[in-house]
Amino acid sequence: MTGNRLIVALDVEDAAAAEALLAKLAGVVTRVKVGLELYTAEGPELVRRLVGRGLDVMLDLKLHDIPETVARATSRAAELGVDLLTVHVAGGTKMMQAAVGAAAGRTRILGVTVLTSLTSRDLAEVAIEPSVEEVVVRRATLAMEAGLDGVVASPLEAARIRAAAPEDFLIVTPGVRPAASTADDQARVATPAAARAAGADLVVVGRPIRDAADPRAAAEAILRELA
Ligand code: C5P
Repeated sequence: MTGNRLIVALDVEDAAAAEALLAKLAGVVTRVKVGLELYTAEGPELVRRLVGRGLDVMLDLKLHDIPETVARATSRAAELGVDLLTVHVAGGTKMMQAAVGAAAGRTRILGVTVLTSLTSRDLAEVAIEPSVEEVVVRRATLAMEAGLDGVVASPLEAARIRAAAPEDFLIVTPGVRPAASTADDQARVATPAAARAAGADLVVVGRPIRDAADPRAAAEAILRELA
């Protein structure tokens, strides 16, 4: 994969805030992620606008429902022209296959393995006993077998997934923090360069850019690390 490996998470309250952030990043960033906050506030209209402007949009709705519902929601997302859509691997093989079928090649489907905010202890609390790494690798394999285009995982598991996956299987890693940043609520983090070295194709960065005194400079520094 060539080109821009940075996906900027537009984790802001409304379209005006998203536009203000995008204006600061113009010409530097070509990939953005619309997640639960912004989608809840602005809905599909903003997504259409971003796509219409030539941005590659990752619609991070982390779908997790019965196969029929996920298939229908995936169809609507594909109609918006988004490049990437997320579903939870924990929804099961039939649900993932339903998403792939509904996308019909229009949108690439990514499986969320384990949220990067969770540790093995958090998983045990919700009755998932194996270690985070084991769960991530197992779920990445399931995602591959179900025909997904890639997975979302932390940089810490990217190397193990890369070793088991075909070259065109996308590994997208949030939990990326430049050396000088704080981890926030992320538990499984690494620097952009480490994520890339571990085999990540695309990295998602939110707060370290959104909250930077100079978001453009922050994005440029991350892109240099990823090059
Ligand atoms: O601010 P920060 O860089 O931590 O933002 C990471 C983004 O990636 C957030 O929008 C979060 O919802 C998303 N994400 C994540 N872990 C996943 C999947 C998505 O942090 N497994």
